[in-house]
Amino acid sequence: MRLSELLFTQGFGTRRQVASLIASGRVRLGGLPVDDPDTPFQGERGEPFEVDGERWTFQPTALVLLHKPAGHECSLRPQAHPSVLSLLPAPLRQRGVQPVGRLDADTTGLLLLTDDGRLNHRLTSPRHHVHKVYEVQCAHPVDAALVRRLLDGVELRDAPGERVRPLACEATGPTQIRLTLDEGRYHQVKRMVAAAGNRVAALHRSRFGPLELPASLEPGQWCWLDPALLQDAPDLGR
Ligand code: URA
Repeated sequence: MRLSELLFTQGFGTRRQVASLIASGRVRLGGLPVDDPDTPFQGERGEPFEVDGERWTFQPTALVLLHKPAGHECSLRPQAHPSVLSLLPAPLRQRGVQPVGRLDADTTGLLLLTDDGRLNHRLTSPRHHVHKVYEVQCAHPVDAALVRRLLDGVELRDAPGERVRPLACEATGPTQIRLTLDEGRYHQVKRMVAAAGNRVAALHRSRFGPLELPASLEPGQWCWLDPALLQDAPDLGR
């Protein structure tokens, strides 16, 4: 691939913009500046490149894991808080990465974003029942009866007559529970906990399918993921 073509695929701008980016000497290969947009470059084989001093490697699909901090909306057109996209570098936004499902503005934890629409659909489609684990800080003390009510299923206002159950629920502290869901209804955890007689004071997603939020990733930080991690994992559901 030519260098300009490679940078174009990676979100560094239009063809014209990447050509002028390279011509102005802001791109380095093997530590040396290159100013010819037609320079052949085997970036697909994993060789890194630098733009404005930052190191990148070619990613055919953009799939990233973000430690979502509170106070950010998953919407592309946020209303009250900045979008989670503002936490990612411009080339990822330019590639069109979008959140995989949504977390509320005040929810923290594991959020995936990708530019692969089919992958996004597969991970969010209700048919696929991807397992999601939430760490719930409750406003009131947790007891065995609360856990039992949740496991037996609660009725939500928009699903009258239906018992909405978690896959798993356990108390993890005097005011904490861990809930595993395989669906993603609107405000589902908050509404389930309220229907069971408590209230969510803080909510954190610790797992999504086979992925766990890395302990080393601080709120607001992100890392690349290999999409192969999400192929045929058992907790991706059917
Ligand atoms: N359930 C909720 O209520 N909020 C979230 O952000 C995620 C799941």
